[in-house]
Amino acid sequence: MTIKVSRRATEIPPFFVMEVMRAADARAVSGEAVYHMEVGQPGTRAPQGALLAAEEALRAQRLGYTDAQGVPEIRAAIAKRYQDYYGLAVAPARVVATTGSSAAFVLAFLAAFDAGDRVALAAPGYPCYSNILSALGIEPVALLTTAEDRFQPSPALLDRALEAGPIDGLIVASPSNPTGTMLGSDAFRDLAAYCRDKGIRLISDEIYHGITYDRKADCALKFTADAIVINSFSKYFSMTGWRLGWMVVPEDLSRAIECLSQNLYISPPTLSQVAGLAALQCEAELDQNVAVYARNRALLLESLPRAGIDRLAPADGAFYLYADISRLTNDSDAFCRAMLAETGVAATPGIDFDPARGNRFMRFSFAGPTAEIESAAQALVDWRR
Ligand SMILES: Cc1ncc(COP(=O)(O)O)c(C=O)c1O
Repeated sequence: MTIKVSRRATEIPPFFVMEVMRAADARAVSGEAVYHMEVGQPGTRAPQGALLAAEEALRAQRLGYTDAQGVPEIRAAIAKRYQDYYGLAVAPARVVATTGSSAAFVLAFLAAFDAGDRVALAAPGYPCYSNILSALGIEPVALLTTAEDRFQPSPALLDRALEAGPIDGLIVASPSNPTGTMLGSDAFRDLAAYCRDKGIRLISDEIYHGITYDRKADCALKFTADAIVINSFSKYFSMTGWRLGWMVVPEDLSRAIECLSQNLYISPPTLSQVAGLAALQCEAELDQNVAVYARNRALLLESLPRAGIDRLAPADGAFYLYADISRLTNDSDAFCRAMLAETGVAATPGIDFDPARGNRFMRFSFAGPTAEIESAAQALVDWRR
């Protein structure tokens, strides 16, 4: 007898960027140059203060399980950050430490939605949102945003989606991955009001806050108390592998999220909570990383057009440039493969972020060291000459 494999298991698509990484790593093993612009993670280590705190904790602490929502110290310190950074009062009891923002999405979706519910999100967008929703039996509803919308959701796009059926939730990311674009304050306020009027649960992924170039990003809590806010130590705090994130949960979901956390994860990683607590004090070092991203961004904005890649989304934040390459190709996957083979520059085809239209787009990550970005840019200019 054949033993069953779930439909869910066979339907979940790969995260293509991981496949690009594998191809780039294979090329590196064969001794050829590779410039990593595919990965969405800082090239830097965790900040020094976090490393020292972790070293000390390894020696001195038992590092057992913690409360499912995190140790009180980190919950209080994160709550304080909302006051200090955004001027928003958040009670520590509403802060939940999680195993990266990835676990926070699972908790948020399970707490807010039932199987069969419909959740809207921008395309292009971070692919794991819809892949996690689908794995949980929740239907992702793609809002086909354009450069004119700054690739962000709008009430008009939601109106159109509502014509096809009810919408139970909306995920926003400002700055977004892959485009780096941000919602203006008025646009964010309008979206939050729209969601409140229509009974739509707003989930705001704020993982790229702290990495912006002209102005600070708005926290969704500035506009509504009903939103689930999700954030992480992975990007601004440069701690991807430590797997630590957090959420700020509205009162009506607080107990459900606590029980889900206990059952699904027991607790977020204890050593990482120690390190994360210290990282919250390391802003001076972390802001230097942001200064490097700003230099890399400026360098690419100047050089990519010389390589014929000149239709770039306005990257207000994060460390990505999303390029419309429709004048160069109709097959971004083949284009990225050829680019890697012929120049050593690894970047991600848009199909990862927008299955319907991503064949005409690609994403460059500029989170690496400036010297690597500089060499990559030169290789691309030489390639297209
Ligand atoms: C927009 C966005 N949200 C969430 C994540 C997941 O991050 P974490 O490491 O916190 O799980 C990523 C990772 O690239 C991302 O780009």
